[in-house]
Amino acid sequence: KLADLKGLKSGRLRLAVITTAKYFAPEILGAFCEKFPGIEVSLKITNRDRIIERMAAHEDDLYIFGEPKSAGMDVEATYLAPNPLVIVARNDHPLTQERRIPLERLAEENFLLRETGSGIRDSLVRRFQEKGLRPRVRMELGSNEAIKHAIVAGLGISALSLHSLNLDWGGGRLAMLDVEGFPVDRAWYLVHPKGRELSTLARTFLAFAIEQEPEIRATLNTTYQTLRADNQ
Ligand code: PGA
Repeated sequence: KLADLKGLKSGRLRLAVITTAKYFAPEILGAFCEKFPGIEVSLKITNRDRIIERMAAHEDDLYIFGEPKSAGMDVEATYLAPNPLVIVARNDHPLTQERRIPLERLAEENFLLRETGSGIRDSLVRRFQEKGLRPRVRMELGSNEAIKHAIVAGLGISALSLHSLNLDWGGGRLAMLDVEGFPVDRAWYLVHPKGRELSTLARTFLAFAIEQEPEIRATLNTTYQTLRADNQ
């Protein structure tokens, strides 16, 4: 249809994603814009609670986050890629020498926790609660990047998405700990409110994005193998 083609020539796509998707969303958007050079795109990056607020207010076309069933509204969700949660310490931390560390042992460590409203924070605290435990919070920080710096600065350990540990973030000072129940097997979904029709452009983007899954997975695998090798 002529109208459809027009949407792809000059339409506008508004995407809003949780913080850990920022390590991949720009790559997907870049490839997409190369295919449809006339379009305009915007990318909002914030935590899970904010993303869900934006979705409830219909501020964007598509959203990327996890656990769409507990978003508090009816949504259409399409699986996009894995988003494993791992426990990270500085590479000279004594726990890097241990295997199958019980959560009880982690509860004795100083934890760096993301802000309220963060999905990562919720996942971590829930893991502890399931065992009747609580992380000992040393500091709250509003970004994954700040948490990585704080780990290197010796302030404590934390939970991070494997995506935030890709090779771009250097120093080689971070190590993944071998903790019982980790990595937590989480995933990203492409989400939009149920009953709200997607624009041609948003639909085309969704189909394009899910095709990138093997590449996202391959990048994650490389990160995982590198962190493991560093551990040994
Ligand atoms: P958050 O989400 O920024 O809300 O913590 C990131 C994630 O769950 O991977």
